[in-house]
Amino acid sequence: MFRPTHMSPLLLLLFLSLATALTCSASPQIHIGFSASPQSQTAPFESLFTDPTGNFSLCFLRQNQNHLALAVIHVASLQPLWLANPTHLASWSHTTRLSFNGTLLLSDPKTNLLWSTATTGGDTLLLLNTSNLQILNKAKATPIWQSFDFPTNTLVQDQNFTTAMSLSSQNGLYSLRLGNDFMGLYANYPENDASSLGQLLYWKRTALEAKEVIKQGQGPIYARVNKEGYLGMYQTSAKPIDVQKFDSFQQTPTASSFLFVRLEPDGNLKGYYWNSNKSSWVLNYQAITETCELPLPCGSYGLCTPGGSGCSCLDNRTRFEPGVGCFGGSNGNLCSEKIGGDSYSVIRRTGVEPPHKELDGHVTTPSSAECEGLCERNCSCWGAMYNNVSGFCYIMDYPIGTMSGSGEEYKIGYFKVRKSESGKNRVGVRVGVVVGVMVGIVFIGAGVWMMRMRWRRKGVNGMLGEENGSSPGPYRNLGFDSFKSIEMSGQR
Ligand SMILES: *[C@@H]1O[C@H](CO)[C@@H](O)[C@H](O)[C@H]1NC(C)=O
Ligand SMILES: *[C@@H]1O[C@H](CO)[C@@H](O)[C@H](O)[C@H]1NC(C)=O
Ligand SMILES: *[C@@H]1O[C@H](CO)[C@@H](O)[C@H](O)[C@H]1NC(C)=O
Ligand SMILES: *[C@@H]1O[C@H](CO)[C@@H](O)[C@H](O)[C@H]1NC(C)=O
Ligand SMILES: *[C@@H]1O[C@H](CO)[C@@H](O)[C@H](O)[C@H]1NC(C)=O
Ligand SMILES: *[C@@H]1O[C@H](CO)[C@@H](O)[C@H](O)[C@H]1NC(C)=O
Ligand SMILES: *[C@@H]1O[C@H](CO)[C@@H](O)[C@H](O)[C@H]1NC(C)=O
Ligand SMILES: *[C@@H]1O[C@H](CO)[C@@H](O)[C@H](O)[C@H]1NC(C)=O
Repeated sequence: MFRPTHMSPLLLLLFLSLATALTCSASPQIHIGFSASPQSQTAPFESLFTDPTGNFSLCFLRQNQNHLALAVIHVASLQPLWLANPTHLASWSHTTRLSFNGTLLLSDPKTNLLWSTATTGGDTLLLLNTSNLQILNKAKATPIWQSFDFPTNTLVQDQNFTTAMSLSSQNGLYSLRLGNDFMGLYANYPENDASSLGQLLYWKRTALEAKEVIKQGQGPIYARVNKEGYLGMYQTSAKPIDVQKFDSFQQTPTASSFLFVRLEPDGNLKGYYWNSNKSSWVLNYQAITETCELPLPCGSYGLCTPGGSGCSCLDNRTRFEPGVGCFGGSNGNLCSEKIGGDSYSVIRRTGVEPPHKELDGHVTTPSSAECEGLCERNCSCWGAMYNNVSGFCYIMDYPIGTMSGSGEEYKIGYFKVRKSESGKNRVGVRVGVVVGVMVGIVFIGAGVWMMRMRWRRKGVNGMLGEENGSSPGPYRNLGFDSFKSIEMSGQR
């Protein structure tokens, strides 16, 4: 099977046993016949082997207590840079096994996970000092497989991001992809029987072509994080067709450090550099700098007010609840619903607009009534925004997310709410809250009455006043704080 040409069999055996014993092996290679299973019950990760600098490691990475991902991590921070199986985790168990016989294969009989590189003919597995994991065949000049071609949510410096790839946020809700002349962030809608809509573009960066222009017919563009501190787009030349500068652009101490961009669970694309002095990652770039321009900062049918006064609901009668939003959230469209206009109710609100309206199509209509009419008659329309000054009518043919509060009263919003959903949150929650409060009052009343009777009997008075002070609900504070934290992470 293996050809021990440059290593004596004894040495090879020693190497293999060392590697299988999960000692942090100095050698950045693995040969055919390698096999390993997790050993520790508690370790956050188990290194299989590291790159020549020791900065990066291919390892078993513990996820959610007792699950396992095969990962390339940055050792000093445990920051995962690549995961083999981000959506289908294995169990952290001695039956889970990683083996290399030309194919790198992770199998877990418990969860039926079988992940493999599906390659043939590989003889060496190598971790480069760029964090790229490669499978090589001695006879071939180029690697037959590399982790750089299968990014998860992270793109490290010098990794080529092509039109065939996508980054996906850890929660699976958002993705980054390239178009002909742009890069875009998309919200993924769950595949749904009624939905023809797969993805919604919510952020777009079109190549500025300042240093180099796109040559038609010369092949697709690609993107790369450049060590000098920018996210570049390229086509045929080494000169970029577009440059998105990081804060550390061409600054000496940071430019020489390691950089990556990551698609975050809130749908933002952020860049970081490694500060070895502080042993921490420093935020260096954000595609979206205004919180209200993120895809769902206040949930469905939420209203986000730029400048930080927080989240509310498009419908004044509904109170914004953190983590829940306003109306649960819809998907699909209204086309399969019973015909007759009974399937939805309507909310109107002025001074609001879709956060990325320039990416929505618009038509010109003489009045807001005509604009609403276009939406009302079309079951794939969820809402419309009419600009009473320009006459532009923006049609939202996707489920309503968070609107941005512009405060400009000539912007007139019209939104459909699926009947079942408005009912659920408003009536259901209200009734629930009222019943809960009443039951609570009865209980507290009974308790107070009983205590008072006891204290009276014991002759202890004047303590009730202090008790009453502790009643304000923590709910509002929680909401405010959680919004504040979103906001802070959205600002620099
Ligand atoms: C890699 O290792 C070198 C030497 O230990 C260190 O100076 C550098 O900061 C490390 N880089 C990262 C990204 O950890
Ligand atoms: C490697 O192992 C897998 C699973 O045991 C097997 O299906 C595959 O054929 C093997 N490949 C080679 C080249 O031996
Ligand atoms: C990484 O490896 C390449 C060649 O394999 C070498 O030129 C480069 O200096 C190395 N970088 C670091 C930081 O070790
Ligand atoms: C990225 O693409 C450039 C230009 O095609 C190429 O020279 C370079 O080797 C590629 N890098 C990797 C890591 O594949
Ligand atoms: C780390 O500290 C050294 C010495 O104080 C300094 O020269 C260097 O610029 C610092 N690096 C970063 C990334 O801040
Ligand atoms: C909600 O309240 C705002 C400000 O008080 C008001 O301008 C708006 O018309 C109200 N909207 C609805 C739907 O009641
Ligand atoms: C309904 O809206 C969709 C999306 O905006 C559009 O493609 C379609 O043509 C519209 N249908 C009609 C009948 O206007
Ligand atoms: C829209 O503009 C027209 C003409 O300027 C005005 O008469 C009308 O009241 C406005 N409508 C709203 C809802 O602001």
